[in-house]
Amino acid sequence: MRILLTGGAGFIGSAVTRLLVLEKAATVLVVDKLTYAGDRRSLRDCEGKPGFAFEQADICDLPRMRALMAEFRPDAVMHLAAESHVDRSITGAADFIQTNINGTFAMLEAARAYHAALEPAARSAFRFHHISTDEVFGSLGPTGAFSETTAYDPRSPYSASKAASDHLVRAWHETYGLPVLVTNCSNNYGPYHFPEKLIPLIILNALDGKPLPVYGDGSNIRDWLYVEDHARALVTVVERGKVGETYCIGGRSERRNLEVVQTICDLLDQRVQAARPRRELITFVADRPGHDQRYAIDCGKIERELGWKQRESFETGIAATIDWYLANGWWWQPLREKKYSGERLGLLAAAERQEASVKVG
Ligand code: NAD
Ligand code: DAU
Repeated sequence: MRILLTGGAGFIGSAVTRLLVLEKAATVLVVDKLTYAGDRRSLRDCEGKPGFAFEQADICDLPRMRALMAEFRPDAVMHLAAESHVDRSITGAADFIQTNINGTFAMLEAARAYHAALEPAARSAFRFHHISTDEVFGSLGPTGAFSETTAYDPRSPYSASKAASDHLVRAWHETYGLPVLVTNCSNNYGPYHFPEKLIPLIILNALDGKPLPVYGDGSNIRDWLYVEDHARALVTVVERGKVGETYCIGGRSERRNLEVVQTICDLLDQRVQAARPRRELITFVADRPGHDQRYAIDCGKIERELGWKQRESFETGIAATIDWYLANGWWWQPLREKKYSGERLGLLAAAERQEASVKVG
């Protein structure tokens, strides 16, 4: 398969690229702007491999996207490029509107023209796979789970921009017959995760003996999926998913944030000695504005219809993730030093003034 994959220098995109190039012998053109979140070093295992190519480009640049599709002639587009961090969307929504909405529009228009000009066999085989998030469904109460039939209810600038992009993708299917697939996935974690997100931030702060910021009371729940399991799900969908369908992907691993942070502390204490138990670094801080309480995914459809199943439990995945960060300082040290060193993001001015930290044992 020839796959044009956007966002391949990011966390999930690099995992999908490694899977496609190293295990599936696919030919992949990664298209990535290399924003603060993109890093070519995340693709170092693929560099020089037959079937791997990289193009630094902005997905909002429609003429460029048209030209890349015409030159590369993909069998499928896997569209992952996005601004992905909720906290950054709270204080800087413009980039999210631009990349996630206008960028998806440009990708759809380029794919539409490319698809329309294909020979019939290639035309019926072509797929446009849009990678999205469970956050488009809003926030759950104590019970229930999101599924493919859940109504959209996005609540952050990030999730609203992803919801808008999902709607554009559906519209291009219904109106122009573009053969699309949409996936909505829960929280990923694993290697090459930019250390602004909860799990890598906590691992690296805990190693440095720095405070471990837990928003609000730490009772918010996320459904965690190991990134390589997500990558396998995405490749399954692009290979065998039914055109026009949505597939929800999740880890069946709901955990309270505080529990996640405590687990990381305990696993690190077992691996690297510290003067005091790392749980003592946990610091409750002002809550995220509009913080969604709970996410959980019912991934029964992709399990039943496409035979995908996650391999890692949260316990095995989090241990593997911690071991990866311990062994791969070459990757994260320059990011912590030069790109983002862990300062609080996403606070509105009023909350900033109120921010009072309470240390707990
Ligand atoms: P990431 O922030 O790690 O990577 C995003 C990549 O997109 C980066 O390499 C960046 O350089 C690139 N990019 C950003 N703007 C671009 C532009 N205008 N043109 C070209 N490239 C651009 O994100 P991620 O966590 O790997 O997420 C990938 C996708 O999966 C996103 O669409 C996200 O919404 C979705 N998703 C993420 C999660 C998660 O838990 N991380 C869960 C579900 C869905
Ligand atoms: O659900 C899928 C989404 O998961 C993806 O679409 C997003 O791209 C991805 O970033 C992630 O969004 P979250 O907002 O859930 O992830 P984040 O790592 O930012 O936060 C996870 C939880 O931890 C959330 O409840 C907020 C909380 N948190 C986060 C940080 C960064 C803290 O308590 N402290 C922190 O320092």
